[in-house]
Amino acid sequence: MPKPYDYYLKEILIDEATLQQRIAELGAQISQNYADRSDLLLVCVLKGGVLFLTDLMRHITIPHHIDFMAVSSYGSEARQSSGAVRIEMDLHTDISNRNLLIVEDIIDSGHTLNYILRSLEARQPASVKICTLLSKPERREVPIQVDYIGFEIPNKFVFGYGLDLDEYYRNLPFIGVVREGAYAASDQS
Ligand code: IMP
Ligand code: MG
Repeated sequence: MPKPYDYYLKEILIDEATLQQRIAELGAQISQNYADRSDLLLVCVLKGGVLFLTDLMRHITIPHHIDFMAVSSYGSEARQSSGAVRIEMDLHTDISNRNLLIVEDIIDSGHTLNYILRSLEARQPASVKICTLLSKPERREVPIQVDYIGFEIPNKFVFGYGLDLDEYYRNLPFIGVVREGAYAASDQS
């Protein structure tokens, strides 16, 4: 049966079982590392982080809260993150003295997360750590210390499992690589 995303999909980079196994490992690690703290707050960055959050939290065995924020990057292409970032939707939680774990889909240049970090740190939380499902180290323009990484991936435009192509296909249970030429915003340079 042909699938609606077949045109865009070059190959599956990380299949569902591999994703889920790694997410279970991350959840177990986080549960261990935060075992003695009762004020863990998972900060999900919308929209891409939402599938990762909901799967990850099922593997976090200690009590915790969740909250959401949404940011947008200025830049003509979805691919480009110019460094100018704006908070579209802020947290509803007072984070002073809370232990925060930012849950992100992907770190590319690092500009988005760098902005989020500064904004959160200014509110005096007890700690801020980062958990990203994917990281493209080759693309980094701002150094970011990442505490939990699901997978380091090559410099390829990917979609699925929270990551979109024009807002579609976030629901796919795997991470796929976009076929060259199929999606303008994924073209590099
Ligand atoms: P950064 O600011 O360059 O680190 O960009 C982070 C944001 O760019 C992510 O939260 C995604 O929204 C988007 N992004 C970067 N790489 C990809 C990709 O391969 N597929 C889909 N979105 C991406
Ligand atoms: Mg994102």
